Order: sequence, then structure tokens, then C-alpha cells
Amino acid sequence: MSKKLLFTILVTLVLTSLMLSACGAPATSAPSTTQAPAKKTFTYADMTLCYPQLGAESDWRTANTASIKETADKVGAKLIFSDAQQKQENQISAIRACIQQGVSVIALPPVVEDGWDAVLTEAKNAGIPVIIVDRSVSADSSLYAAHIGSDMKLEGERAAAEFNKKFPNGASILELSGTTGSGAAVGRAAGLRNKLNANIKIIDSQTGNFTRAEALPVMQAFLQKYKPGVDFQGIFIHNDDMGIGAIEALKAAGVKPGDLFIVSVDGTRGGFQAMVDGWFQADVECNPLLGPQVFEMALKLMNGQPVDRETLTNETVYYPDNAAQLLPSRKY
Ligand code: AHR
Repeated sequence: MSKKLLFTILVTLVLTSLMLSACGAPATSAPSTTQAPAKKTFTYADMTLCYPQLGAESDWRTANTASIKETADKVGAKLIFSDAQQKQENQISAIRACIQQGVSVIALPPVVEDGWDAVLTEAKNAGIPVIIVDRSVSADSSLYAAHIGSDMKLEGERAAAEFNKKFPNGASILELSGTTGSGAAVGRAAGLRNKLNANIKIIDSQTGNFTRAEALPVMQAFLQKYKPGVDFQGIFIHNDDMGIGAIEALKAAGVKPGDLFIVSVDGTRGGFQAMVDGWFQADVECNPLLGPQVFEMALKLMNGQPVDRETLTNETVYYPDNAAQLLPSRKY
């Protein structure tokens, strides 16, 4: 082959490959005029919050309901509210109805701790964030966004501290407990046992389901079994409403204010009045006014903003010495 022919072949090959690669190269694109749509920032006007309230068993609960409703009105969010009458199955049905309606957020005050996994999974699969409010759940924490409420165990520990102070040489006490299996009752009972001095014995514990009506016969039954001041010197009562029911039974049995050392929980007006009247010697605060925190967190969740997984309410213990002074300004 002549040099000339070889040169011609090489030049042809180089030119062909340059042409081919030019054909395969992406065309130089003109700057795009279509941009990703701006992400919408949700406001309260876009929000539908589902609140399957657990019941109306106490003044605490009434105040909690009012706080949720007032906050919804104030911020201009839509609220789907229901009252489960202390029945978990009613709460579960209400949650399912909310999922069907495609609410923005579900805020759940669970009546008991166990048994939420299935419905929380349904909410999660529907892309609806859930805030657990007030009491806790035992479900895996990946099934809900956050919890806002009181440290129930700490409340029980605070009650224990009152008995320890009052009875350094030991005593026997009774416990009138809240709804069996509820985070509030479980936590308070655990906290009490955690911190109570070994020389203070809990001789009996029965549930009054957080209501005045159910606490009354429980206290009557206690009084049939145990002599006040002899068999027991104090009572730990898991909420003020049950305390008020118990006072009725104590009065009827001839017990006078101050004969027994009674520690209650909540700090409602009824509890303050019981301190003014000399029946309660301490009232451990449990704050129901959670509406503002719940709605604020719900909006963050709608906008994909980070939230604290656990928001515990800052609380204290109230005593009879300034109960009369504080009573008029109590909000619940
Ligand atoms: O979960 C909070 C508790 O529930 C309150 O102590 C009680 O009053 C209510 O019923």
C-alpha cells in the first residue's frame, strides 16, 4: 500500500470517528426556564387537627378539652374532636375516621398505654403524623412523631417525697389509683414505689378510674377494711376528682380534715379547695393546658420541620399554706 493511500485511510477514519462522536454528544442545552415549584409553607388555615379525646372523666380533662378547642379557634385551624368515654375502641374508631378524612395531624391522648400499634401503623402508612398527648403509649416510637405531656413518674416521686417528709418514722398508706393500664396511673404508681422510704408501707391499692363517682365506693370499701389513723395514716390519690369522691366517703365515716395525710395530683380548683378546707396536705401539679404546644408542633410537622420527640411540662407541688391565695387565679 502506498503512503498516500495509507494517509487517506487514516484521515478518513479520524474524520468518521469525530463525526460519530459529535452525533452522540448531548446537544448544548439552553438554560431551562421551568424551575422546581416553590415548596408551600402551610399555615393554621390549612390545618385539620384530629383530637380523639379519651373522655370527660375529670376537671383536668375538661380543662384539657377547653385548651384544645380554644387554641383551634384562636389560631384558625379546623378541629375534629370526639369523646371516647374512656374506651380505647372508641378512640381507635375515631382515629380511623380521621385517617379516612385525610386530616393533617392526629393528636392522641391515649386512655391506656398498650394496644395502639395497628392504628398508629395505619396513620403512618397514610402519611399522617401523630402527636401523643398527655399519657404515654407503649408502641414503638417510630410509629409516632412526638409526645407532649407530664412526667407521670416524677409526679409519683413527688408524692413519695411528701410522705417521706411527713412520716420519717414510718407509716401505712393507701393508694387510690387512676385508670388501670393508663400511662398516668402506671407512671404515678411506679414513681411512688420508686421513692417511698422502706418504712412506709402501701397496704392496699385500688382503682377509682380517675372519677369522683368510682372513687367514692372504693374509699367506702377501704374504710370497711381499715381503720383510719390506726391501720393507715395517709392516702395517695392519683387525681383531685377521685380525692373529692374520697372526701365524701371520709366525711360520712366521721373522719375530719387533717386526721389523715392526703396527697393528690392535678392542682385543679377542686384540689385547691380541698387544701383550703384542710383535706389535702399537698397537690402535685399535672397541667392540662396543652393546646398551644400541640398546635404549634402540629404546624411544624405539616411543614416538615424538626420537633422534639419528648416535651415534658414544667410542673410543681402546691401546698395548703398559699392555696387560698392562689385559688382565684387558677385557670382550671
Ligand atoms: O392523664 C392525666 C390524668 O387524667 C389526670 O391526672 C386526671 O385528672 C385525668 O383524668
